[in-house]
Amino acid sequence: MSGEKPLTSILSAQAGRGSEPNPSFCVSGERKGPALKEWKGKGRLFVVAVDGPAASGKGTLARRLAERFGLAVLDTGSLYRATARLVLDENGDPADPVTAEAAAKHVDLRLLDDPRLRADSVARAASVVAAIPEVRRELLGAQRNFAAHPPAPARGAVLDGRDVGTVVCPQADVKLFITAKIEARAARRVKELREQGAPAIYENVLQDLNERDARDSGRGAAPLKAADDAHVIDTTMLDADEVFERVCRLVARALEEKEWQQ
Ligand code: CDP
Repeated sequence: MSGEKPLTSILSAQAGRGSEPNPSFCVSGERKGPALKEWKGKGRLFVVAVDGPAASGKGTLARRLAERFGLAVLDTGSLYRATARLVLDENGDPADPVTAEAAAKHVDLRLLDDPRLRADSVARAASVVAAIPEVRRELLGAQRNFAAHPPAPARGAVLDGRDVGTVVCPQADVKLFITAKIEARAARRVKELREQGAPAIYENVLQDLNERDARDSGRGAAPLKAADDAHVIDTTMLDADEVFERVCRLVARALEEKEWQQ
């Protein structure tokens, strides 16, 4: 691996940063919503898988679901972003399996709140490291562990990503595949970036999403695709609140059914 600093020094520097709430990994302390009040399941965790392409709105949806139903949430993409970030910090090549796997070994859930992970350059590199089977294998355990042992007080977890319903949690209680036409996703991403004060050119964002979609869907290892039993929701013509309400009904029903099975 090239670069001056070893991965471990970067990690300890990151770990020393402040302890702000981590948007990639958090537990909703506030439990509300009718379904949660009715929840009487003992010892059985409830898992929601939310997959879909970039900028489809799955991350926001996952966080809102977690809050509504009192679940912990993990943005699995941030694990790939953290891996990519470590490689880039070392001036390494994200396509090099040895470098990328070494970086993946150093990623842990406490490192996912770095705002630098949201950079476009990191997203691009994330989709490159994510195509490497050794990297996926390395990051799988942390994701499954989170789903199996969500931090208290959560009684389950929402994981969002590309392969949660197909590979990470094939037994998830609810599987959602959130998608939208690429032009709509590009427009949303541009709006989001501009709201954050970042310059964003529609054509560039569109090209970026096209390239990432192609890489994510075309790779041999855990490609982006809907699980056979996923609810596929095309959000091109729907606003975020409509999607949320529709999905809440699905989740509430699944919670009730799970309770009946106890
Ligand atoms: O937020 P956005 O949808 O733009 O990206 P992300 O969810 O943070 O994911 C970044 C990249 O990580 C994706 O382009 C995928 O290549 C990869 N990824 C993956 O392969 N599997 C996952 N479960 C999550 C993300």
